[in-house]
Amino acid sequence: MLRHALLALLQSDVPGLPEHRVANMFNPLASPGASEKEIALLTFAVTGAIFVVVAGLIVFAMWRFRRKPGDDERQEPPQVYGSNQIEVAWTVIPILIVFVLIGVSARVIVGVENASPPPATVKLTLVGHQWWWEVDYPEFKVHTANEIHVPVAHNGSHATYLTLESADVIHSFWAPQLAGKVDLIPNRQNFTWIDPSEPGVYFGNCAEYCGTQHANMLLRVIAQEPADFNRWAAAEAKPAVDDPEMAAAKAMYQSLSCVNCHTIRGTSSRGTFGPDLTHLMSRETIGAGVLTNTHEHLRAWVDDPQESKPGSLMPSMKLTDRELNQVVAYLETLK
Ligand code: CUA
Repeated sequence: MLRHALLALLQSDVPGLPEHRVANMFNPLASPGASEKEIALLTFAVTGAIFVVVAGLIVFAMWRFRRKPGDDERQEPPQVYGSNQIEVAWTVIPILIVFVLIGVSARVIVGVENASPPPATVKLTLVGHQWWWEVDYPEFKVHTANEIHVPVAHNGSHATYLTLESADVIHSFWAPQLAGKVDLIPNRQNFTWIDPSEPGVYFGNCAEYCGTQHANMLLRVIAQEPADFNRWAAAEAKPAVDDPEMAAAKAMYQSLSCVNCHTIRGTSSRGTFGPDLTHLMSRETIGAGVLTNTHEHLRAWVDDPQESKPGSLMPSMKLTDRELNQVVAYLETLK
């Protein structure tokens, strides 16, 4: 029941794109994720073998040296100590195992970090905020939030390079089917890249505890055919729609303190504390993935964000019904 309710809550559609909503790192669909899966399997094999040997020896010892009828209860079993061979063995073998795992991990990390970008590379900057993701594509002049659009990599021809930054505390980017976790650290830039091999919506999240709403800092990576990606980027780069019929609703929005936190390009709304709303309606979700972007949800969100995301830094503006209707009507023109 709960599972169904949760799935219904997250239900959303990008027409024609399959959703990879079970973010299974053992089913990678991009190169960094695939090389990390190899280390994960090797580590499982090695630690699994150690577990079987150690548990087997414990079970064997318990069975072999159990108390038998006729044993003298006051008699201690023979004590073994001071064996140099055994001590050397149980020191050296674990050290060798640890160094093999370190070596393999380091090789994969260096391999991922030093991979040379293919000619068609999209660059974007992802900035972690409490509790949402700012997404900037400087080359395309696109500013958006919480949903990253990227082109699909055909035979390694495309990749997306991400510069990771934070506006406040440490966050961590993790889209398990695409790449391993990389932290977003204040006053520092980290880098990672992805090259999804199949179109689809890949689910990700923040993987470093960053405060109350850490669990609701969700991320979608929407991988599209390059032509679709370019069409999306061109539409996003445009300033906001200015519908003359919406002048009153727009004026209402602009009279409120929403403008201090949000940007709507082409208007006097130029705040940068919250997500850019220029093309709000092109996004599937609001509140960094807590709600699907429907009329009811958007209205409820603007009315009181604390209802669906307690602790969120967006306050309830205590709008009257009339104000709320106008603000939502205006936001809904931001296609
Ligand atoms: Cu951001 Cu956890």
